[in-house]
Amino acid sequence: MGRRSGRGSGGRRLLLCTFAGVLLAACGGPSPSALDPEGPGAARVARLWWLLFWISAVVFTVVLLLVVAALARRRGTREELVRRGGGELLIVVGGVIVPAIVLTAVYVVGLRDLRALTVPQGTDLTVEVTGHDWWWEVRYPREGIVSANEIHVPVGRPVRLVLTSGDVIHSFWVPQLTVKTDLIPGHTNTTWIQASSPGTYRGQCAEYCGLQHAKMAILVVAEPADAYASWVAAERRPAVAAGDPMAARGRLALERNSCAACHTVRGTGATGTVGPDLTHFGGRRTIGAGALANTRGNLGGWIVNSQTVKPGNKMPPQPLSPEELQDLLAYLESLK
Ligand code: CUA
Repeated sequence: MGRRSGRGSGGRRLLLCTFAGVLLAACGGPSPSALDPEGPGAARVARLWWLLFWISAVVFTVVLLLVVAALARRRGTREELVRRGGGELLIVVGGVIVPAIVLTAVYVVGLRDLRALTVPQGTDLTVEVTGHDWWWEVRYPREGIVSANEIHVPVGRPVRLVLTSGDVIHSFWVPQLTVKTDLIPGHTNTTWIQASSPGTYRGQCAEYCGLQHAKMAILVVAEPADAYASWVAAERRPAVAAGDPMAARGRLALERNSCAACHTVRGTGATGTVGPDLTHFGGRRTIGAGALANTRGNLGGWIVNSQTVKPGNKMPPQPLSPEELQDLLAYLESLK
């Protein structure tokens, strides 16, 4: 109803879009924004952000108007102005009383939000997340699940996250779901996430942790209760038996080569704990903590020499024959 049109509106819209685009560079695009919340925790943070933004905008505008008024109404030299005096009331009200009221109010609102961001009562689902250079180990202690770089959660339910680090300090941040929380070696921090609607929410390590800090992404996959339950049931099981001969040879290749020294595939001879657990790797969306999409081509490149994609990571190039590589790819893809 009442859609405006006309010659000027296109230009105005473009200007507005550009301004909004600069202001909210991450909104709506592929990178997630804390101002596009999808859970109660992030929604609270976004509300606080907007409150602070509008207060700052009003203060900025008022100060700017005062500067303009002062310049416009200025009469006489500096010495005359000093001699004439006056303006104390403005300084006391505008410089002391109003800021004191505004800052106290903001402080109280901040404290209220801080309290509200503690783990809700009755949260019965716990996920342990351990940061490593440069990937995330994910464990569901009660369900007996070990995974990496992906957290599956049921929609609408709070999930407690117990965070620690295996090496240096990392920081867990899924902007659309929750605030940042550090992962500190030898210490556990607790936070929580809750997703309001199904979807995949991208998170990122938010504390510089070395060369590949930027390629340390984590995905939170929020699913309806039944989909989540079937994911849990599947993840609890050991690796599926290799169905076809190619995958069976791939399993042998994995066990015989150095893969098994660093990775675990439950139900096989691979029991390494240096790198991510691969028991259900085929079901994961990315390779190398968000470095690549989990496709056969990307996976082949990653196995042959992951250093070209994510230099400095702990996985050395794998000198496999082309046949062995194809077998291994078939096996890894079958690990759903
Ligand atoms: Cu981990 Cu930055």
